[in-house]
Amino acid sequence: MSSSVNSFNPYAHVHDNPQRPGDQRSTAPQVVRDNDRIGVFTDKVVLVMGVTSGISMETAAKGLHATGTHVYITARNKEKAKKTVEYIMNISERKGRVDVIEMVMDSLESVKSTAKDFLGKSGKLNILVNNGGMYHGGPESGSKDGFEMQFAVNHLAHFALTALLLTKSSNSQFNSRVVFVSSSSHRHSSTTNHIDRLYRNQSVHALSLNPGGVWSELQKVATPEQIKVWKEDKAIGLLM
Ligand SMILES: NC(=O)c1ccc[n+]([C@@H]2O[C@H](COP(=O)([O-])OP(=O)(O)OC[C@H]3O[C@@H](n4cnc5c(N)ncnc54)[C@H](OP(=O)(O)O)[C@@H]3O)[C@@H](O)[C@H]2O)c1
Repeated sequence: MSSSVNSFNPYAHVHDNPQRPGDQRSTAPQVVRDNDRIGVFTDKVVLVMGVTSGISMETAAKGLHATGTHVYITARNKEKAKKTVEYIMNISERKGRVDVIEMVMDSLESVKSTAKDFLGKSGKLNILVNNGGMYHGGPESGSKDGFEMQFAVNHLAHFALTALLLTKSSNSQFNSRVVFVSSSSHRHSSTTNHIDRLYRNQSVHALSLNPGGVWSELQKVATPEQIKVWKEDKAIGLLM
């Protein structure tokens, strides 16, 4: 890295001129390697929510699992979960453990049972990644508990699982993290700030992030015309 690189934000400069996927922008394996984190967290446990496609699948495979952590993933679809585990084991530089726990994010009963299942399997949790979500359930769609679908999946499921597992993260030897995969609205994440303020004395920190623009299953609700517009848009097309 050149001497002009900001050590607090070392990858900022590679994002100056995006040229589509595969360009000079940093990748999860690169960040893990640059920080000498390959295989060093073999005593750590991470739980990632909604890992059967998209961003979290790559995060789990190329980022977290490569550090040697025991990765728990949640999924609602058994077949997809099986394929995800195979993907992680094939692609990761480490061949450590990956376990699946069922979670239907639009059911608070299911979220509770996920927490119980996890606690029955693991005595600790070092990182909780609150990911998984959907766009536009439509006004007619409701969760099992009667909430608007997008609110239930993208917010309530994350909130409930965090509340049920938060104190399990406390560990004075290693600052634990709750990571919220958000969007540009991560700047207004009051839940993240609240957790960090309230629990930092117990060595639990919370972070919220904007993953940027990534082609994934999230856009499946868009029409082909809309996708075409996005792809032809210079800013979006080169970014994603
Ligand atoms: N992609 C982007 O450009 C972008 C931009 C800003 C923010 N984000 C945020 O990043 C997160 C991940 O997005 P992504 O692009 O990776 O999306 P994705 O490819 O659609 O993946 C979403 C994941 O959530 C799971 N999920 C959705 N509804 C569920 C439910 N009711 N119960 C259980 N699991 C459910 C999906 O499971 P199935 O496979 O079973 O459907 C899948 O594993 C989301 O919170 C999204 O809002 C993404």
